[in-house]
Amino acid sequence: MVRVSHHLLLCATPTKALCCPDPELGAASWARLKQLVRELGLEDPALEQGIVLRTKADCLRICAEGPILLIWPDGVIYGGVTAQRIERIIKEHVVGGVPIEDWVVGRNQFGS
Ligand code: FES
Repeated sequence: MVRVSHHLLLCATPTKALCCPDPELGAASWARLKQLVRELGLEDPALEQGIVLRTKADCLRICAEGPILLIWPDGVIYGGVTAQRIERIIKEHVVGGVPIEDWVVGRNQFGS
């Protein structure tokens, strides 16, 4: 089984569009997220720290300030995740390990 370092869940084009009324914003973020994960080689199973998984979620129960991105295992929730913001989030948080606090709208941990 392949090792996983992070799992990125983006509420990109939710059925009810509660967190972001403009579906094009979320769709553009999702496209950029997929492109960056590929370009940065984050899906390479040879990565010692593990690969980055990505999933388009229908709703992450935040339902405001979207598009919403949840990053596991850190439990960090970002708001306003436009295609422009996604690059910094992936490079600084996912790769660099430092969350961008100005864009964090919440935190969640399993069991808490
Ligand atoms: S609709 Fe996006 S978090 Fe609920």
